Amino acid sequence: MTILVTGIRGNVGSLVARKLVAAGLPVRGTARDLAAPGLPDGVEVVHAELTRPQTLRGVLEGVEKVFLYTVPQGIDGFVDAARAAGVRHVVLLSSIAVTWADRDRNPIARMHLGVEEPLRESGIGWTFVRPEALATNALAWAAEIRADGVVHCPFPGSYTVPVHEEDVADVAVTALTTDGHRSAAYSLTGPQSLTQRDQVALLGEALGRAIRCERIPVEVARAAMEGVYPADVVETVLTAQAMADGRPAAVLDTVEAVTGRPARTFATWAADHAADFR
Ligand SMILES: NC(=O)c1ccc[n+]([C@@H]2O[C@H](COP(=O)([O-])OP(=O)(O)OC[C@H]3O[C@@H](n4cnc5c(N)ncnc54)[C@H](OP(=O)(O)O)[C@@H]3O)[C@@H](O)[C@H]2O)c1
Repeated sequence: MTILVTGIRGNVGSLVARKLVAAGLPVRGTARDLAAPGLPDGVEVVHAELTRPQTLRGVLEGVEKVFLYTVPQGIDGFVDAARAAGVRHVVLLSSIAVTWADRDRNPIARMHLGVEEPLRESGIGWTFVRPEALATNALAWAAEIRADGVVHCPFPGSYTVPVHEEDVADVAVTALTTDGHRSAAYSLTGPQSLTQRDQVALLGEALGRAIRCERIPVEVARAAMEGVYPADVVETVLTAQAMADGRPAAVLDTVEAVTGRPARTFATWAADHAADFR
């Protein structure tokens, strides 16, 4: 039973692969650039691009289950190739945004629905793993924290419930390796609703130095994000942050319900990632 992990270098994908290998399971991983550094040991790594399904045929040979990143372009080709190869189950890294009331016009939700829907129709077994904010979003602050310890953000009082990528990977691995997760969609959060200011303070505690959040005008934040993300995604993120300003978000117990272990705190995440901010 080979399990294919797409995105073997990804934050979540690399952990999924590592946990499956530790469990003694045969894993094949994919990367778009086999020559770049950062490939894991102990895993067969092959080239694949989800946007070019013709690259998937050999890759899926002998594969029973897949951990899949959300890449809508090429999903129909993925489904065809997976069916032809006899894949029985796909665990998709999706997003909680697909459950929100604005999902039909929210570009992040639409992107993830663009893969969830074809998988639902595919006849292949599926599990959707839908995190809220990944704690790894805080890595975007690393350069500022390293430089002078001041994080600039438009809504320091905006809440999310950041979830540790280890917990996302644990849920995915549970869905890949145990029964009872077919047609299940798991919305995941961390254990605490935290403002951006709270998260920066917890990072400061992990680093043992004073760092802080400084408010910047929304227009400045928008200008900084525009070169990096599509304009509609920038507006969606800024609108979500504005709406969550001063409003704690719901904490879900799904990580514990699925894995049997409580979700890791952001303080744990900060300790695990302290080196990324030094
Ligand atoms: N950030 C959030 O708060 C949040 C919230 C909810 C859901 N999510 C979901 O989580 C994802 C991020 O997870 P992560 O942090 O583990 O991601 P990551 O570290 O950025 O890794 C993404 C992986 O996807 C692979 N990939 C991307 N496009 C591909 C393609 N066309 N063909 C083959 N492989 C491709 C990459 O492969 P290569 O290494 O070969 O480039 C990479 O390994 C988001 O994209 C979103 O779907 C994020």
